[in-house]
Amino acid sequence: MRAGSEDEGLGALFEAALAARQRAYAPYSRFSVGAALRDETGALHAGCNVENAAYPVGTCAEAGAIAAMVAAGGRRIAALLVCADGAVPVTPCGACRQRIREFAGPETPVFAAGPGGVLARHTLDALLPASFGPETLS
Ligand code: THU
Repeated sequence: MRAGSEDEGLGALFEAALAARQRAYAPYSRFSVGAALRDETGALHAGCNVENAAYPVGTCAEAGAIAAMVAAGGRRIAALLVCADGAVPVTPCGACRQRIREFAGPETPVFAAGPGGVLARHTLDALLPASFGPETLS
């Protein structure tokens, strides 16, 4: 895999997502997910899925990582990685693609990883083309 400048520190991003995944609360789906992102300062923020007995109330790992970034003062996603153990590499769900879109640009890398390492690299624009974002409103 060719490493661009945004891909630097990919190992640390993977380790942060893997650690968060180990703390996932997923008693209903049994599908644990961790996500980690690097913000515009270089700081890492991680999250895991948090399910709920009222199923639709559960939250995705990406939403947790984004909330952690915003609470810490970060405002831009430089790179994001999702870690899960799916039959195919797990990419963010549709709603989370939009959540990422709020804080990222079209070329922002979104990595898919399994427990053993990174499996795929996408850009946000490839995952959410012709998207609606903050500048659409201005
Ligand atoms: N999930 C995530 O946390 N992120 C994704 O990108 C895909 C799905 C969670 C939601 C739910 O807790 C479980 O995985 C099964 O859908």
